Amino acid sequence: MLKEWFSYLTTPYPAHLRRLGYLRQMIGLGSRYRRCRAAWQTHLDSTRRLILQAADAVPNRDRVLVIGSGLLLDVPLQRLAADFNEVVLVDLQHPPAARRQAKAHPNVRLAEADVTGLSHELARLSRDSLPSHLPRARPEILLEGGADLVVSCNILSQLPLVPREHLEGKLGFRDAAELDAFCRDMLRNHLAWLAAFECRICLVCDRTRRVVRSAGVVEEEDALFDVRLPPADEEWTWDIAPAPEIDRSYSLQHQVIGYRDFKPLP
Ligand SMILES: C[S@@+](CC[C@H](N)C(=O)[O-])C[C@H]1O[C@@H](n2cnc3c(N)ncnc32)[C@H](O)[C@@H]1O
Repeated sequence: MLKEWFSYLTTPYPAHLRRLGYLRQMIGLGSRYRRCRAAWQTHLDSTRRLILQAADAVPNRDRVLVIGSGLLLDVPLQRLAADFNEVVLVDLQHPPAARRQAKAHPNVRLAEADVTGLSHELARLSRDSLPSHLPRARPEILLEGGADLVVSCNILSQLPLVPREHLEGKLGFRDAAELDAFCRDMLRNHLAWLAAFECRICLVCDRTRRVVRSAGVVEEEDALFDVRLPPADEEWTWDIAPAPEIDRSYSLQHQVIGYRDFKPLP
């Protein structure tokens, strides 16, 4: 806990993203990884394997974009850097550990972008200035130069989490239907944005979140807000918080799906 506080206070991070809660989320993810490392390994290995299979199927290897690179836990950086002329890691901000890893490869570039394009606008809202209709996603442009492979790396279901928590939890936005529409739009928008790259897309994302007790699965929620996707190439379980990480009596699992060559449904 003390270590988390220290990181929170000392990590350079843009004020508007800090205000929305992205830094807290990133530090929390790193801490949970350290506590649950063994339980996460299958998920991390499965993601890395799928990304490499997608990369192996690409004829030209000039440039690969990895969206949601984060702490680089599930990104096979070394192999991508060896196989492509340029690797572009895209995230809101790159944590110090990822910066250190990237530095070891002269052809790895760090790009900071908000792929929803919403963070500045959301950070300006206050309890007194809440609109009845929430803004819709407008990704910051990252298309110049194109790419041979784009990897959306365990980010899709994460996109609405921090914005929703900020709007609902901190600002008291109460219209649940509007919040759901806002979240669904972010997911749909991300998929449309990926499709606009006109190259191979590798997509890895959560499909459902489950609460598991000794009797079995007792609760399951759709992590994708009813956004429909085609049948996946691979599916696996991410034991994200095995008991007693959150509570002695239950574990949290995500069902993760992966596509080597993602094409959105028409
Ligand atoms: C669950 S993590 C993905 C795991 C990551 N690949 C790793 O190995 O640590 C989700 C990532 O998406 C990033 N993210 C969330 N919202 C974003 C946004 N609007 N634009 C860009 N990145 C975002 C977070 O900063 C985080 O690094």
